Amino acid sequence: MSLVEGTVLVVDLGAQYAQLIARRVREAHCYSEIVQHGITADEVKAKAPAAIILSGGPKSVYEDHSPRIDPGIYELGIPMLGICYGAQLMAQDLGGTVTATGRGEYGRTTLSLAGTSTMFDAWGAQSTVWMSHGDSITEAPAGAVSLATTPEAPVAAYADDVARRYGVQFHPEVVHTERGQELIAHFLHELAGIAPTWTNSSIIEAEVAKIQAQVGTERVLCALSGGVDSAVAAALVYKAIGQQLVCVFVDTGLMRANEGDQIEEVFRDQFHVELIHVKAADRFFDALEGVTDPERKRKIIGELFIRIFEETARDIASHEGAPRFLVQGTLYPDVIESGSGHAANIKSHHNVGGLPEDLDFDLCEPLRTLFKDEVRAVGEELGLSESLVWRQPFPGPGLAVRIVGEVTRERAEILRNADAVVIEEIKKAGLYRELWQSFAVLPAVRTVGVMGDGRTYAYPIVIRAVTSDDAMTADWARLPYDLIETIANRLINEVDGVNRVALDVTSKPPGTIEWE
Ligand code: XMP
Repeated sequence: MSLVEGTVLVVDLGAQYAQLIARRVREAHCYSEIVQHGITADEVKAKAPAAIILSGGPKSVYEDHSPRIDPGIYELGIPMLGICYGAQLMAQDLGGTVTATGRGEYGRTTLSLAGTSTMFDAWGAQSTVWMSHGDSITEAPAGAVSLATTPEAPVAAYADDVARRYGVQFHPEVVHTERGQELIAHFLHELAGIAPTWTNSSIIEAEVAKIQAQVGTERVLCALSGGVDSAVAAALVYKAIGQQLVCVFVDTGLMRANEGDQIEEVFRDQFHVELIHVKAADRFFDALEGVTDPERKRKIIGELFIRIFEETARDIASHEGAPRFLVQGTLYPDVIESGSGHAANIKSHHNVGGLPEDLDFDLCEPLRTLFKDEVRAVGEELGLSESLVWRQPFPGPGLAVRIVGEVTRERAEILRNADAVVIEEIKKAGLYRELWQSFAVLPAVRTVGVMGDGRTYAYPIVIRAVTSDDAMTADWARLPYDLIETIANRLINEVDGVNRVALDVTSKPPGTIEWE
């Protein structure tokens, strides 16, 4: 079965879970796409999906303006799975009954199976599932049989094997549902008959073909930031078109330790990509002289970055002919969040520091159908090192937003050295992947200390480590005391200019992750 035949549409009925469902489908090796509930039956038909999953949602089917789907979709004969609100909507639309019982169910509960069924093939009589509903399905839709109950859900699952329509009141996409992923995979492979062909190598193959078709024999420019997304995008494009790609890495002097070297090692030595390494630290430090306001810093860095990038692009054009395409590391969540499904605009918050919209390029976005975990897996498959692929996020303005007060070459050097110690110890402790970000911050104060026989007057370093899913909110990480002690000792002993260490215990909100 080809990939297009295998597409699974996840209809977003207003849940925070639609993205998670789409990711779970990918984990079951089927390609998924999120669509809005306003999609018409004709539009669905044109996409010819192999299955449709209706997501959960916060509304009640009895509320005014609660999300609906085009009834014509049911007539298309496509296998369907409704989850939570999606299951209720399908039940109500197809002759079942949904009742506001007044007794909701939230959190873990026990699912009891009524007997054997195709849906719960190899399950035991009872299983733990995760619920979040106010209304309950009290009668399965016409043609469907009720398969399971929970204490507050008379019909916790139903199936119509003839029409291949299934509903579950619980959330199989969350980890608290014991056999949730198994249920999703079972629906896709066994009930909907979709081949599990969406793998890292099939992703690479498909993207390579798309890139080749898009760019033909034109030249392509890619700005490497040192981050995961631009690196994987560049590696994919290189695999597709080889020497037609030229990469630019602008070293602002505000990067993490070894970032530039690693980029050179990977792209110049390993892949033999044409790489232009612009060493522009002096220009950035000159421009930042005497500047202490965080927003001014960001603006100066962003604008200078663009100027240098444009200069470099012009230089390339004058020597080798103008590249027509610019690679962007846009990911699927950015495309979904834009709502339009056409997030072709260059993001101002993007890692490379915000390229302007009037740059005269067509965009090449080889990651725009992928989730972050897929990007990492693809990167590893393409031969990028683990340390590059699993890098924690890093802000476009770099160390500048972690240096409170003036950004000088000396202060950037202190922070870079301190940051390298923090990262090294966090990695040694096996916590690097678990933490969203972990780094050092350099405040604008100096404090008194004693070292040996002498008095010191030097900077403190603040350790900042947070856990988060998406950077919108974050919790300060409870690092083990022993680890904090090791980091603190090393910072004071090894990093010149540092004589004190503090730990940031602020969550977001009220704090932000970065200090500026
Ligand atoms: P805050 O500090 O706002 O950061 O909690 C949220 C996330 O965004 C990153 N960040 C940036 N990324 N350009 C970027 O590309 C920026 O100007 C920028 N500022 C913050 C930050 O590292 C965190 O992951």
